[in-house]
Amino acid sequence: MSKSILVTGGAGFIGSHVIRRLVNRYPNYKIINLDLLTYAGNLENLADVDQASNYNFVKGDIADISFINELFQKYEITDVIHLAAESHVDRSITDPFAFARTNVMGTLSLLNAAKQSWKENYDDHLFYHVSTDEVYGSLGDEGLFVETTPYDPNSPYSASKASSDHFVRAFGHTYGMKYCISNCSNNYGPNQFPEKLIPLVINNIVNEKPLPVYGDGLNVRDWLYVEDHADAIDLIFHHGANHETYNIGGNNEMTNIGLVHMLCDILDEKYNRPQGTARQLITFVKDRPGHDQRYAIDSSKIQRDLGWEPSLLVEEGMRKTVDWYLSHEAWLQNVTSGTYQSFYERQYGSV
Ligand code: NAD
Ligand code: TYD
Repeated sequence: MSKSILVTGGAGFIGSHVIRRLVNRYPNYKIINLDLLTYAGNLENLADVDQASNYNFVKGDIADISFINELFQKYEITDVIHLAAESHVDRSITDPFAFARTNVMGTLSLLNAAKQSWKENYDDHLFYHVSTDEVYGSLGDEGLFVETTPYDPNSPYSASKASSDHFVRAFGHTYGMKYCISNCSNNYGPNQFPEKLIPLVINNIVNEKPLPVYGDGLNVRDWLYVEDHADAIDLIFHHGANHETYNIGGNNEMTNIGLVHMLCDILDEKYNRPQGTARQLITFVKDRPGHDQRYAIDSSKIQRDLGWEPSLLVEEGMRKTVDWYLSHEAWLQNVTSGTYQSFYERQYGSV
């Protein structure tokens, strides 16, 4: 085995696509998926690779310092691709402590274990932190986030991710640890938990429930198909320059209401019914506190330096995503029961 890679958060949305890609493409690597299986972690996402000989799943908490130290020893971890996080902005507004614990303390605990285990000899080791464009704050009508845009996080989620990015940089600067960071725009695609906008809207159209659009629906996000993100992560892990940050984005800016309209129209077409039917479910609800107006990424650095580019335009990606959710009814049923339902009620009241 040439590498023993610890992938954290591999049972989540993006992590599961990363794990699948690494397990299938690199039979020489040992892939250790560490995940606490919170409400967002689902091993069903990895049913197709869980018997692979180069794959191990470990259930555990990244913030458990002694457990993480032991894990590094036991599996002789050579590299880290760190995705585990609390990832939903609305939850961070309700419970910021959970975000500080997992995203900040959890990242620090991994950095600390890596430093001890690699004995400050970093030549053959990389700590790769997967982060978000939300650390840059909010844009007005013009401009794009570049890698040098000053950090200006607004939500407890983005503040915790910004803090974890700073810890990674500090370990690089102070101890010489090799690291890369990527800051990516909003992802969508199969296996995304239906608390996030796109799967929530698809699920609610399927179940003929209201589609909650925050505020005036004119906030803008830049959407990237999740497999394109996994492709970028693979490239950065193998070819990213030491101590560099890469912005990853889809070149797919849309207002929330424009996106919801697109999903409504695709589903009306699938159900072979008059256009406008699903749009009747749209309900404008109270805005998210501190709601960032616009995110948009300039990804020219990764395109130029690593030859990456997004493979899907947004409409094609949305159609693929809708098809996936419509053909995975059992998956959706499983994740929309239990814990998720009670959160959903707290979040949206009677919606
Ligand atoms: P997700 O919420 O779907 O998955 C997170 C995973 O982390 C889950 O499997 C969960 O069980 C696990 N986890 C949570 N707390 C843990 C802990 N204490 N110990 C171990 N595992 C724990 O998130 P996602 O959307 O797949 O995002 C993955 C990463 O990518 C996050 O770091 C997020 O900040 C970043 N990111 C996400 C997006 C996006 O649009 N979803 C965009 C850019 C960056
Ligand atoms: P989300 O998927 O939560 O991602 P993020 O907040 O990380 O960008 O939300 C995407 C956008 O959709 C964001 O502007 C908030 C908005 N939104 C709604 O209008 N209604 C909803 O029910 C949700 C979950 C989000």
